[in-house]
Amino acid sequence: MATTVIALLALVVPIWGLPPLAPTQYPGVYQLTEPVDHAECPSWDYRNNILYYVNIHEGQVYRYDYDQGNLAYITLDGEVAPVIPSSRDPNLLIVGLDRSVAAVEWDGVSDPSETRILAALAPDFPTSRVNDGKADKQGRLWIGTMGYEGPDGLTPDEGILYQVTCNNLDSPLIEIAPINISNGLAWNAANDKFFYIDTPSGQVVQYSYNDETGEISDRKVVFDVNNHTEHIVGGPDGMTIDEDDNLWVALYGGGAIIKVDSSNGDLLEIVPLPALDVTSAIWGGPDLDILYVTTSRVSLTDEQKLEQPAAGAVFAIVGLGTKGRPTFEVDILGSIDDESCGAKIALRS
Ligand SMILES: *[C@@H]1O[C@H](CO)[C@@H](O)[C@H](O)[C@H]1NC(C)=O
Ligand SMILES: *[C@@H]1O[C@H](CO)[C@@H](O)[C@H](O)[C@H]1NC(C)=O
Repeated sequence: MATTVIALLALVVPIWGLPPLAPTQYPGVYQLTEPVDHAECPSWDYRNNILYYVNIHEGQVYRYDYDQGNLAYITLDGEVAPVIPSSRDPNLLIVGLDRSVAAVEWDGVSDPSETRILAALAPDFPTSRVNDGKADKQGRLWIGTMGYEGPDGLTPDEGILYQVTCNNLDSPLIEIAPINISNGLAWNAANDKFFYIDTPSGQVVQYSYNDETGEISDRKVVFDVNNHTEHIVGGPDGMTIDEDDNLWVALYGGGAIIKVDSSNGDLLEIVPLPALDVTSAIWGGPDLDILYVTTSRVSLTDEQKLEQPAAGAVFAIVGLGTKGRPTFEVDILGSIDDESCGAKIALRS
């Protein structure tokens, strides 16, 4: 029997005080959730005010309902990243799972559907796994992978950034390879630039982006952490962009999220967090003015875990004086049973 969902727990954890706060106290950093090992890949569904994120190694997909103030999760059979809702059904979630793209239907209350595998990724690198990903305006899924990372470090050059659509599930399009750790992605407001992070490079790079064809070109480095070591440390991890086209970049090992002007690479702001390993961020809330930031504790020593009890939590930062734009959803399947993309859709067994 292809039982993919190991556990569904209608877990409701206390939500520590969110706004309102007196304006003079802004910006404020609030702990939103209890810590998990490695929170990552936050996404915001503005249609229903839902924050999704994953606990990668445990295969957990979390769903925070802003209006209800509750949190629930499901556990999938594999390492999971990212989680992005579908454009045609808000409860249809497209996820990266080990080395595949998969779909699962879940409304946060009922039992989830079985997991459907839509596409295989990185067949040549059997110890690699999915990492960050986002949907573009056309609903194409951009999803990256990374080599195995163990006690001896990272297996280099085994990461790939793919573009996955309904039409290429047989053979997803390779956009960038090789990569070390495929991570943050963002598009500017004009939708003609694509920003991207390969974490060990220390850099945020920019490509010209053609939304019609989905093609990227003219790579250039816009920001390099190594050029700012008097102020910041760590590796750039996940990122998001605000309505002014400034990038908000999580620093893994840097204990902060930074604001970077995407037009010239200026370091504009450093927001410290009570966790060394900051993994990613997304704008959310009904007005898209809350910056939700995910963190990790998986790489911390026992001593560091004691010093950083909130590491692994999701934080909500308010009062940053800017906000995001709605992010895009994946447009691959209409429903969990949708066979229109061909026979490739298989149950995971
Ligand atoms: C990946 O990391 C290795 C080891 O640091 C380095 O030699 C290699 O150039 C990197 N690959 C890319 C694509 O940056
Ligand atoms: C980083 O510093 C080097 C050396 O000064 C410089 O050549 C490079 O352009 C800088 N990179 C960025 C993105 O500012």
